[in-house]
This record gives sequence, structure tokens and C-alpha cells, in this order.
Amino acid sequence: MAKHFLSLADQSTQELRALLDLARMIKLNPSGYAQACKGQTLAMIFQKPSLRTRVSFQTGIYQLGGQGLYLGPTDIQLHRGETIADTAQVLSRFVDGIMARVFAHADVEGLAEHGSVPVINGLSDLLHPCQVLADLQTIEEKKGRLAGLKMAYVGDGNNMAHSLLYGGARMGMTVSISHPRGYAPDAEVTARATAIAAGTGGAVQVTEDPREGVADADVVYTDVWASMGQEDEHKERLARFEGFQVSADLMGCARPDAIFLHCLPAHRGEEVAAEVIDGPQSVVFDEAENRLHAQKAIMVRLMGR
Ligand code: CP
Ligand code: NVA
Repeated sequence: MAKHFLSLADQSTQELRALLDLARMIKLNPSGYAQACKGQTLAMIFQKPSLRTRVSFQTGIYQLGGQGLYLGPTDIQLHRGETIADTAQVLSRFVDGIMARVFAHADVEGLAEHGSVPVINGLSDLLHPCQVLADLQTIEEKKGRLAGLKMAYVGDGNNMAHSLLYGGARMGMTVSISHPRGYAPDAEVTARATAIAAGTGGAVQVTEDPREGVADADVVYTDVWASMGQEDEHKERLARFEGFQVSADLMGCARPDAIFLHCLPAHRGEEVAAEVIDGPQSVVFDEAENRLHAQKAIMVRLMGR
């Protein structure tokens, strides 16, 4: 097992499989893991807001017998110029693991490089691997398998698109990304996911046509059009993303038994129609719940005694 959880590209298919199996076991029998991280402290650095990540990690580490320490943007000294390297070294003298939500992906890498305790990426501008572990758990619960399924992501080629590319490719899925011109996923991420998929029987497709992207999909996924830190671009993006809303009409291009996922928070009437996210194909709250179980699995694997 990799020492950190920064990117799904760094996890082998076997490691991901083991994490998903552990997450399922923890969900079935939470009390069996009540001592798994007994007496351990997880530092939780948040440079951006959060509902799901904050509450699921804080609750999750407590349920494993440990404690979480919320460190918001102005609680520590990063915003006053203390370096990531010093922060990592100091925290490593006090705590047993660090979860961090940051802007620059290099910051979670820096925490891992300079600290001596496991580091979990709770979202960076590049990746959101904890979310996708929970997504894979959700898809497997609903569909009974991952390999061979088509997962269609519609929207911005952002951190969610990137982690879905890596996670889906690792598990042998076909991942299609449809995006407006100018909002493609990072070319290096797409190339790396394509190479991963070549070894797992999966595939990667990138298109500017959402109907083509969603055609015959088993899973349809979207995310906000303006991510945290892009609030200034919101108005411009509303215009640029026209035609990329997951509407009932677009869902109709997918398989009739397709499920709809969204990492949340959602903006009804923008990236998704209310009738889709609140409709019978939506599994978004099971998906949100699985953040807890999936992240407990990550903590047991990285910090467990
Ligand atoms: N999906 C997700 O990570 O939600 P939060 O930003 O609320 O943590
Ligand atoms: N792409 C979104 C994901 C939120 C969970 C963001 O970075 O804001």
C-alpha cells in the first residue's frame, strides 16, 4: 500500500480493490473497527470550505477510536507565510496523519514529502481522490461491478474529471469526458489515464459532444461549472457551459438503468436539472454517505495499528 493517498494514479488496481473491499466491510460492520485507530489524531487542514469532507473525516476518525483536529484557513500559520515543509514537519511531531484540502496540488505533495506521517488529499485543484473512492464504492453497490461499465462525466475538465479518469481507468471502466471547448481535462492526466486503462481493459474517451459522451452510459456524473476558487468566472462559465447541463433529455441518451452521481454541492438549474438530481436515477446521497465508509478504509489502511 502506498504510504499516502494523494492520487488514484499512485494506487495499483489491487490496492484500490482492497480499499473498496475494506470500505464495504466497514460499512457492514462499523463496530468491528471501533478501535482501529485508537488514540490516533488526524490533523485536517482546510484551505477551502467543506461540508462532506470535513464532517465525514471528523466523524470517521472518531468512529475508529481516534480524534480529528480541524485546522481552518486562518487557524494555522500557512496564511502568514509558514512553509508547507515546516508545517509538515511540526505536525508530524504531534499527529498520526494529515488530511489536507488545498489549492495547489504541490501543497499535498509537499506535506507528504516533508512530513513523516501519512497524508490524505482531501481535494486539490488537480484531484479529488477520496470522492472518487466513495463514487466507485457507490457504483459497485448499485451495479454489482465496475469493470466494463461506461461512466460518462459531463462538464468541466476539473479535479473531479481527473480523479474519475484515474479511478475509472484503474478499475477497468470506460470513462468518457464531455466538455465545452476550452475546458478539457489536463492533457497529462488524460494521457496517464489512457495508459492505465490500456493495462486494465478500460478506455478513455474525450469529446465536446455531451450526447455522444453520455450514449449508452451506465453512470452519468457531473460537477459544478465553477469550482472553489473560480467564483469570479461563474458568470462567464454559465454562458460557456450552455448545452452541458445533465437534463432529463441528456439522461435519455444513457442506458435506461443508468445511475446519476454528483460529488455535491450541486447547483440545480446549472450543471444538473432538479428533476435529474432529485429523480429516481439519482444516488447522490448514498454517494455522499459513502465518503464516510471509504475514508475510514483509507485511515485504517494508512494509520491503523
Ligand atoms: N464533495 C465534497 O468534497 O464536498 P465538500 O466540498 O462539502 O467537502
Ligand atoms: N470541482 C469542485 C469539487 C467540489 C467537491 C471544486 O473543486 O470546488
